[in-house]
Amino acid sequence: MAPVTSLTASVNQRLASALSAALPEAGSADPLLRRSDRADFQANGILALAKKAKANPRELATEVVSQVVTGDLIKDIEVSGPGFLNITLTDRAITESLAARHADPDRLGVPFAENAGTTVIDYAQPNVAKEMHVGHLRSAVIGDALRGMLDFTGERTIGRHHIGDWGTQFGMLIQYLIENPGELAPAADVDGNQAMSNLNRVYKASRAVFDSDEEFKERARKRVVALQSGDKETLDLWQRFVDESKVYFYSVFEKLDMEIRDDEIVGESAYNDMMAETARLLEESGVAVRSEGALVVFFDEIRGKDDQPVPLIVQKADGGFGYAASDLSAIRNRVIDLHATTLLYVVDVRQSLHFRMVFETARRAGWLNADVTAHNMGYGTVLGADGKPFKTREGETVRLEDLLDEAVQRAAEVVREKARDLTEDEIQERAAQVGIGAVKYADLSTSPSRDYKFDLDQMVSLNGDTSVYLQYAYARIRSILRKAGDACPAAHPELDLHEAERALGLHLDGFAETVAEAAAEYAPHKLTAYLYQLASLLTSFYDKCQVLSDDNPTEVVENRLLLVDLTARTLHRGMSLLGIRTPERL
Ligand code: ARG
Repeated sequence: MAPVTSLTASVNQRLASALSAALPEAGSADPLLRRSDRADFQANGILALAKKAKANPRELATEVVSQVVTGDLIKDIEVSGPGFLNITLTDRAITESLAARHADPDRLGVPFAENAGTTVIDYAQPNVAKEMHVGHLRSAVIGDALRGMLDFTGERTIGRHHIGDWGTQFGMLIQYLIENPGELAPAADVDGNQAMSNLNRVYKASRAVFDSDEEFKERARKRVVALQSGDKETLDLWQRFVDESKVYFYSVFEKLDMEIRDDEIVGESAYNDMMAETARLLEESGVAVRSEGALVVFFDEIRGKDDQPVPLIVQKADGGFGYAASDLSAIRNRVIDLHATTLLYVVDVRQSLHFRMVFETARRAGWLNADVTAHNMGYGTVLGADGKPFKTREGETVRLEDLLDEAVQRAAEVVREKARDLTEDEIQERAAQVGIGAVKYADLSTSPSRDYKFDLDQMVSLNGDTSVYLQYAYARIRSILRKAGDACPAAHPELDLHEAERALGLHLDGFAETVAEAAAEYAPHKLTAYLYQLASLLTSFYDKCQVLSDDNPTEVVENRLLLVDLTARTLHRGMSLLGIRTPERL
């Protein structure tokens, strides 16, 4: 299926050739076309061009208008204001572009990006033996959406779940398990909830001994050394913590309706064998220097409160490697072995200094260069409805699972209220799709770098910029299409369109450009804004135009069925890129 040239692109081409006829020195200047309330489009580029050519902008605009071929694509073009062009399209052109997108059910006419590369995307990275929190939720939701959008544009994506599965705390945990062998049930015997409560119990108990018993502390310290030097018994016990934690992670990801691949869970420990070499390379090239026994990297621009330079610690004085060494090793692996052209990290904005230092170090070492870009999509904090960091009433961090369960429960109330002909099982199934969709959408519809409020009442509201509003719009169309016998509608480009049909049709034509922009800018909120507007235009279309009315000639019914069918497909596709379901009935 050939990609569809968008109406914007077609009009742009027309204008550009009229422009070069009117002002040859303009070359291939951009007419700066945008959607407008006054007409379908407005071109604003003439002003700057006229200024450059020392011409009168209105005269130049008039000359361009006289050069534009009208009739087929452009119905009307006129000069307005100081030299803008207002452009109205023919109804025929709109219907034909919709029909072409409709004829391509998989991609809706959306082209692949021209210079696709390989993006390694680091997201959904919880920590072993620790409960996931709302921050991990954001990383998973945003990462999954970015990946969906990038894949759709033709980018090759590789996921990396850089879980926290290494570090000194494992010495304490493993030593405790050696001394209290019955404490952790085998991973195969527990569900996600049990796994987490076992891990929590072991964590708390081992911490207590660690803090109160100096001799245990010493045994735990030796255990870290055993772990890092690859002692078999120690590694086996460490693996039990990882396996138990994975049972828990998978139960949360399943609740989130998110597919996480086991071969993409590549945590900090996976780079253990590379750490020493990473340190050696940095030291030999002089990028890192020894300072009080530790191996560190300094940055002129990065200073702490006392104006002292804050270094990145590659290796501690006791020889241990930490978070920075594993991230630097991961960069080498991702660039050299995975052939990444882009490294994307979806990590809390509070780690942005860490990434600044890690990226700069990798640049100095030559691991990042002109062919590879690294970017931390740092996201903001999740706040409670009161605008304060999200905590329970008792001031504790909110358990992620409780939060998701509550969202699904609220969604069930909303679905039940509206559902006429749904069974209880169907209500529960929809509730999961609506509730989890609501959580994802609320997160994605805010610009990622900003904090956002976790407000369940607002999230499952039927009116407003929510996923359930979009899901209802979709289900409503599906119900109309079922009534119409689900026949594949035919287009009738000869028909005149109602204003509301034109507005909806023009917006549908902009899907490809929106997806391209949202993917290129890592901005899922641009896609949610587009989809919300789509659903709103659909609502005004319903207000003004009947689809299945006996008063409508067959051609009008068919044309409108095509319009709403393409709207449904666009809603479905857009939501699925974001990881949100669109149930057929609600
Ligand atoms: N596990 C870390 C945390 O919970 C996030 C890991 C982010 N990714 C990375 N490559 N450092 O804070």
